[in-house]
Amino acid sequence: MRLTIIGGGGFRVPLVYRALLEDAQTEAPGRCTEVTLYDTDPRRLRVISAVLSAQAAGVARAPAVRVATRLEDALRGTDFVFCAIRVGGTAGRVRDERVPLEAGVLGQETVGAGGVLYGLRTVPVALEIARRVRETAPEAWVINFTNPAGMVTEAMSRVLGRRVIGICDSPVGLVRRAARAVGADPEAVSADYLGLNHLGWLRSLTRNGKDLLPDLLEDDAALESFEEGRLFGPEWLRALGALPNEYLHYYYFRRETLAAVAAAERTRGEFLQRQQDGFFAEAAEDPLRAPELWERTWREREETYLADNRAAGSGGAAAAPGEVPERDACDLEGGGYDRVALELMRAIAGNRRTRLILNVRNCGTVPALPDTAVIETVCEVGSHGAYPVPCVSPGPAELGLMLQVKAVERATIEAATTGSRAAALRALALHPLVDSPAVASRILAGAGR
Ligand code: G6P
Ligand code: MN
Repeated sequence: MRLTIIGGGGFRVPLVYRALLEDAQTEAPGRCTEVTLYDTDPRRLRVISAVLSAQAAGVARAPAVRVATRLEDALRGTDFVFCAIRVGGTAGRVRDERVPLEAGVLGQETVGAGGVLYGLRTVPVALEIARRVRETAPEAWVINFTNPAGMVTEAMSRVLGRRVIGICDSPVGLVRRAARAVGADPEAVSADYLGLNHLGWLRSLTRNGKDLLPDLLEDDAALESFEEGRLFGPEWLRALGALPNEYLHYYYFRRETLAAVAAAERTRGEFLQRQQDGFFAEAAEDPLRAPELWERTWREREETYLADNRAAGSGGAAAAPGEVPERDACDLEGGGYDRVALELMRAIAGNRRTRLILNVRNCGTVPALPDTAVIETVCEVGSHGAYPVPCVSPGPAELGLMLQVKAVERATIEAATTGSRAAALRALALHPLVDSPAVASRILAGAGR
């Protein structure tokens, strides 16, 4: 089985390769035997290839790694395509965060005005990739990691239909953390999770036919023991009656999160820009040290994740000065993106039926949304692809948010594909985290500078 990674010079590629190396030991049918890396940046490709060869050294049945500089060559004959690109690089991420912040609203990689700006830049490139896949590898399955993942997957599905599936690590992370908080084995629970990407709710967590969520919601100590419990706080979680995705923090606690992000000396993008530029420059100079530098840089990235991305905790209160929220050790071990991607690939290639939380077309799951709208929910996966498992309808408040944000996503796709300024303005102004069309207009002008 052959895998192509578009964005093969990406910083997280060694995580994927590490998971493939582990999988190779099982000799499972349909396991990956060859990986082709494609990237527009040759220096990044050289550095990441050096990290992968060090990972493969001495490992039996390590998948061969090939580098391609033409997209056609990368795609021909492939079975799976991982699409993991960052259009505009980290410099683009910095602008997506700074321009809205200067206009007084949240600036974030995928949420709010920042996510709209990121989508406007990314959708045309993702669509072009989708067309090239359809021409060169029409039988391949595309697994989309590219953010904003829901919107980008929806745009690509207009070309590829069900052959594109979007993934994110946050829902499975939430399920795992919630299960551990009640002392359950994360592998032994089944979850009911529904929403859009970075906008979903865990509504039940069942083990042996019993829903464990009601007891968890009543248990302050258990709630304070994991990331989302601390972020939203027991009082709000009990009132809500579900566990929200960590990104909903920006919606429910918009005042506190905006204040914390605006007060921070640097945005997450600014930190990563310096960190990543430093890593790639140093590793390119001395490729033999690339693996060790990568390990160190990855650790530092994960250790700073919560402090940078979720600046407020304990029910919205900003962390006290000097108090840095940390990720749990089990979350630092990875098993996020790479694991979802691998399980998905295995399920399709080996027809091993699995349930995973994925971004796929709605197909009637939420009757109020169009069938072609991409949602994030529990899917049944096998050689036929991924289909959403029928579930309880969302409550009116959750549905309202989903409809509003889906309208924003669709206006963004329209603007990105037609160049319509009105559609771009609508996308920004209709976002629940943008409080005035005048602000939206300023953001649009700022982004065009
Ligand atoms: C999570 C989200 C991703 C997002 C990432 C940001 O993993 O699911 O969609 O891109 O966080 O992490 P970073 O280290 O880039 O700030
Ligand atoms: Mn994500």
